[in-house]
Amino acid sequence: MSNDNLPVKPEDAHGTVEVAEPIADPGVEPHEPRITDIDPKAADRVERQVSGMFGLATLLVLGSCVAYFAVPRDSILEFGPLSGNANNMIIGLCIGLALFLIGAGAIQWAKKLMVDEEISEERHAAHSSPQQIAEITEAFKEGTEESGFGRRKMIRNSLIGALGVLGLPAVVLLRDLGPLPGRALYNTIWAKGIRVVNDVTDRPIKPSDLVVGQLVNAAPANLAPLQEENASEYQNAKAKAAVIVVRIKPSEIRTKPGRENWGIDGILCYSKICTHVGCPISLYEQTTHHVLCPCHQSTFDLADSAKVVFGPAARPLPQLPLAVDSEGYLVAQSGFHEPVGPSFFERG
Ligand code: FES
Repeated sequence: MSNDNLPVKPEDAHGTVEVAEPIADPGVEPHEPRITDIDPKAADRVERQVSGMFGLATLLVLGSCVAYFAVPRDSILEFGPLSGNANNMIIGLCIGLALFLIGAGAIQWAKKLMVDEEISEERHAAHSSPQQIAEITEAFKEGTEESGFGRRKMIRNSLIGALGVLGLPAVVLLRDLGPLPGRALYNTIWAKGIRVVNDVTDRPIKPSDLVVGQLVNAAPANLAPLQEENASEYQNAKAKAAVIVVRIKPSEIRTKPGRENWGIDGILCYSKICTHVGCPISLYEQTTHHVLCPCHQSTFDLADSAKVVFGPAARPLPQLPLAVDSEGYLVAQSGFHEPVGPSFFERG
C-alpha cells in the first residue's frame, strides 16, 4: 500500500523524514454479560418491573376514560397559586403518565432483557454500483413497457390529469380559513378630517400638546364609537388604524418629495404597525429619531419618512398626512396612501 496520503512529520535536525503510522483499529471491547444474562432471578425481576409498568399504564388509560365521565367539567384543581380545570388536568395526567410508563417499560425491556448481541457492520459505498444502476434502469424500462404507460396515451394522459388536480382540494379548502379579505387590507378608518386622539385618554391632540422629542400613541376619533356597536369590528379597525405621532425639529426632517405639507411644525404621523409581520412598533430614541420594532428589531427613521435603517422590514412605515382643523386640533388630510401592516403578495 502506498504511504502517499499518510501524514508526514517535518524533517528533524538531521534532515530525516519520519512517516506517521496510522492509528491501530482498537476493535470492539470485550463483551460483558448483563446481570440479567447470568442471573435468571434478576431477569424475572426485570420482567415483573416491565409488566408492572405496562399494567399501570393500562389502568391509567382506563382511569382517564372514567375521569372524562366522572369529574365535573366545571371543577377546579388548585396547587398553590396555580389552578386549572380538574377534568382536563386529570385526563391529561393519566394519559401523560401512561405514555411515559409505556416508553420507560419498553426501554427497560430492550436494555435488560432483549438479546444483547454486539455486531459491527462494514460501511459500504452510498451509491449503487454501475451494474445495479443498469439493472434498475432495465427493470424500470420493462415495467413501463409492460404497463403500456408509453403506448396507451389515453390512460397515461387521464392519469396525469387526475394526479395533477389532486392538489386542488387543498387550495379550495383554504376558503375555510375565513372570508376573503377583499380590499380590507387597503383601507383603515382614517379619512379626511378625522381627528387624531390620544389612544389612552381619547382626547384630541393639538400641536401645542407636543414638545420636540415627544412621541404619543394615537388613534382616529371615529374609533371609540365602534366599541359600543360591534366588538370585533372595533378590534379590526383598532388594529389597522393605530398610529404614532411624533414631534421632531423641522430642521432635522428630510421630507420626501410630494410630502412637503404632510406634517405640522415638525409633527409627523405614521402607522404603528410594523411592515415586517405586523407587530406594534415602540421604543423611540429621540436623538436619532429611530423607532424600533421589538419583535425582530426592524428600525425606522421617523425623520426620514420612516425608512428602514435596520432589520427585516422591507418598506417604510406608511405616513398619514396631517392638517389642523378650525378648532386647532390635528386631523388627517386623508386616509393612508398605501396599505398598512406587513407586505403581502398583491401589494406592489
Ligand atoms: S414584526 Fe417588526 S421587525 Fe418583525
